[in-house]
Amino acid sequence: MRKTVIAGNWKMNMTPSAARAFVEELKPLVAGKNGCDIVLCVPYVDIATAAEAAKGSCLHIGAENVHYEASGAYTGEVSSSMLLEAGAEYVIVGHSERRQYFGETDHTVNLRAKAALSAGMKVILCLGELLEARQAGITEEIVSMQTKLDLAGIAEEDLSRLIIAYEPVWAIGTGLTATPEQADEACGIIRRVVASLYSEKAASELTIQYGGSMNEKNAAELLAKENVDGGLIGGASLVPAKFATIVAAAD
Ligand code: PGA
Repeated sequence: MRKTVIAGNWKMNMTPSAARAFVEELKPLVAGKNGCDIVLCVPYVDIATAAEAAKGSCLHIGAENVHYEASGAYTGEVSSSMLLEAGAEYVIVGHSERRQYFGETDHTVNLRAKAALSAGMKVILCLGELLEARQAGITEEIVSMQTKLDLAGIAEEDLSRLIIAYEPVWAIGTGLTATPEQADEACGIIRRVVASLYSEKAASELTIQYGGSMNEKNAAELLAKENVDGGLIGGASLVPAKFATIVAAAD
């Protein structure tokens, strides 16, 4: 049985005081929901506050990115050890907004994933095709290639701390959601690639999330699919009641 994981990605939203208020409001709404793991990936400056507010609850805190070096002359960057000490257990790497606006490539995404895993973090690795790729009928090729490049050099034993989030770029923040069938198909493609790279066991145990305009209305249908083991949620993770409804759908 693989774990269902519902993760929020706040992106560049919420100050530390807003983060504290959010966590306090969310806690009672998700108390006792043991059917899935619940993660909030928050801006760097919110991590310590969110982690403190989440103490003793079922909420886990994550970051939205990490640098691949342990320390050094990388102005503006943050390392895994900094994130861990601040209270982040998880970290997102490879989000399409990082790839699109900040020049990240499969190579740097792979470096970030490896650095975070070797520091002991849990990684949510995002990948997914652009609209042009879907329209050209090459979703399978793109998603397979990204899976292979992004996982290069990651050991099978580390996959227990890795989640892949399938996030078709055309569905992120657009209100356009992949149909449950499209999400299931793409997550299934990723799972088959993981089986070919590692083993059937690794593939069957890997949590693969769907992300892209998942919300309190469409979550249940998406999560009901065989290959969809959770969600990475942007917009709908900014409202406690909406996020809690998605958690309830997964639970
Ligand atoms: P969205 O974002 O739910 O607002 O589409 C998802 C994501 O970017 O992870």
